[in-house]
Amino acid sequence: MEPASPFVHDAKLFLVILVFLSTTNITSSAATSPRGFVTELIHHDSILSPFYNASATVADRATRARERSVARLSYLKAAMSGTPDSVRGIMFPGEGVFLVSMYIGNPPVHQFMYMDTGSSLTWLHCFPCIGCTTTTPIYDPSRSSTYYPLPCDHDPYCAANCDMQRNECTYGAVYADGASSSGNFATEDLMFYIENEGETFASDIIFGCARAVNEPYRDISGIMGLGNGERSLANQVGTKFSYCIGSLDDPNYAHNRLVLGNGAVLVGRSTPLDLDMGHYFLSLVGISVGNEQLPINRRVFRRRWPGTGGVIIDSGAEWIYLVRDAYVQLRSTVERIVGSYLARVTIRNHPGWLCYRGSASIDLEDFPPVTFHFDGANLVLGVTSMFQVVTSTSFCMAVDKANGQTPDDINIIGMLAQQHHNIGYDISRRMLYIRQTNCERVN
Ligand SMILES: *[C@@H]1O[C@H](CO)[C@@H](O)[C@H](O)[C@H]1NC(C)=O
Repeated sequence: MEPASPFVHDAKLFLVILVFLSTTNITSSAATSPRGFVTELIHHDSILSPFYNASATVADRATRARERSVARLSYLKAAMSGTPDSVRGIMFPGEGVFLVSMYIGNPPVHQFMYMDTGSSLTWLHCFPCIGCTTTTPIYDPSRSSTYYPLPCDHDPYCAANCDMQRNECTYGAVYADGASSSGNFATEDLMFYIENEGETFASDIIFGCARAVNEPYRDISGIMGLGNGERSLANQVGTKFSYCIGSLDDPNYAHNRLVLGNGAVLVGRSTPLDLDMGHYFLSLVGISVGNEQLPINRRVFRRRWPGTGGVIIDSGAEWIYLVRDAYVQLRSTVERIVGSYLARVTIRNHPGWLCYRGSASIDLEDFPPVTFHFDGANLVLGVTSMFQVVTSTSFCMAVDKANGQTPDDINIIGMLAQQHHNIGYDISRRMLYIRQTNCERVN
């Protein structure tokens, strides 16, 4: 693998997408459940997660959430700023927020894949794998009766990316920070299962069978790409998906759900989805705090050609990122309200954050809801979406500015903001459905 040529890989993989689009016949089936492919989403820090760390403190979790969000901002910025004909969705997105519980092969092997709406390649560790140290059982294709490697004559991409000895179509992707995953393309059957709700199978799903990975992809099973690329799992099982996310703070919360395909829950008000470069953009028109509409020119949220600006709804960040003009307004409103009765504190290593000494659950009891007004639908943020507890005696606003160093600032709506909502993506009709809800009742 050429270490310094991510764009060469990206360009090659882009060809794959085009070729698969025309040659692959996807046969998915939802045999037992009328709702389609339904499965559990597990927060990275949940007790249900293989990464659960019982000795991690609230402060540790907040730091990690913040680190994930910062890494995500960098990833999405890089993804947006390339030339229009390269494929950003192939670059690797870093560690995610939610794990998808999923089974692969026959007999099925349980995997925990990161859900990623910001990339479109699905890959997972395949035994034998160099560098894989995953904590969950590794999938071994030689023990599965439904594994089919794509052969070199599958299409022109495979002919050009062929492991002659094995007659296998290969993939390799290198991210700018040196992270990489490489292996071969194959098809497999996936199973989604929820206790008391049954199982569903998706056949002949194309995925990357990772035979070599390095940091930071050693410990995770893989990534489930739900971006808008043609080969994305979202597009292989239908053209819809939805998720319902409850409390991110509660490590015992067990009702987060992902629904793929036509059973996706598309409820509530809808707003246009702008699909570009594999990412999901929304049209944000304003923000209000309580009844007060902030004086923000809606133009600051618009996309600017080529590949700058805009508002991305994203599964890989927890925090919200806003361009400077919007951030300044929201921050000063929070300062005016909360600063009138609580003292500011400075968090070590993060002098720029807006943090206060106090208890978010007690001291913010009267803080008004913050509404993000999209064209046609609203996202209403309660206190636990706007603020993150960082120590036992302090909390910070979970909104940061998308840094003014480059002109290609983007706005990101991360997962904290999506708590207590069902979010439905209708890719073919280009609409996003938002409904504030209790996920225990929806599921
Ligand atoms: C778990 O959290 C503790 C406390 O922060 C930390 O020292 C330890 O390295 C963590 N363990 C793992 C496996 O991440």
